Amino acid sequence: MKNNQKPEDVIVFPLDVPNLKEALSWVERLNGLVGVYKIGLELFTACGPKIIEEVRKISDKKIFLDLKLYDIPNTLTRTVKVISELGVDWVTVHTLSGRTALKNAVKSSFNNLKIIGVTVLTSLDRADLMELGFNSELARDTKELVFKLTQIAYKTGCDGIVCSAKEVSKIKEFFPELLTIVPGIRWKENEDDQLRVATPYEAVLAGADYLVIGRPIRESSSPEEVCKKIAEEIEKAWIEKNVNA
Ligand code: C5P
Repeated sequence: MKNNQKPEDVIVFPLDVPNLKEALSWVERLNGLVGVYKIGLELFTACGPKIIEEVRKISDKKIFLDLKLYDIPNTLTRTVKVISELGVDWVTVHTLSGRTALKNAVKSSFNNLKIIGVTVLTSLDRADLMELGFNSELARDTKELVFKLTQIAYKTGCDGIVCSAKEVSKIKEFFPELLTIVPGIRWKENEDDQLRVATPYEAVLAGADYLVIGRPIRESSSPEEVCKKIAEEIEKAWIEKNVNA
């Protein structure tokens, strides 16, 4: 246990499915095995805001609305106000929206909505970043780019950031109070489109507060067993961290 948290509380399960029925069956199935349900673009587009009410009816876990908002300051202000009314716990905003947009998002949130800045998608590698126009130095060292974007998130008052396990230790060192939410969790490299990957144990040891884990759970023949294995690794990393603290 860490601050009264149980290992399973830090597992974020993305409801990356196309309809309400499948989403709710996952919420029921993983009840007690994960701590946060993430609703992303696919499910929100399919169901609209009613998905949030429906999940709330059967679960008291956190809800993470991962819409990765990327827009001008005025639109972000207006959108974050509407999202605050929905009663979700976290929403993602792209740090590349810029300082003013991020500040507006933070200022216009209420109802305990936490603003989480997205830094660099874990599916992007150096070649992708170069193609997108980042200079070779920043593209070579994704850590530096993520760190720069995290600084902006921190200065504008965001509550947390999404980053890969490769960048999290430096972020925790400089901004210990920022929540770190880490996708790209895998036991093997080169499995799919996630490039900057780590195991649950490695990610937590490096400083991840929450782990986003979708396909390794969803595509397994035994999702419950995978959740238990992840929770065991989280606990092992917490013990190791305490020993070394
Ligand atoms: O474990 P899996 O790759 O299936 O989980 C992917 C989930 O994490 C998706 O819902 C994706 O949108 C989200 N995500 C990500 N990389 C980020 C931010 C979110 O993969 N940087």
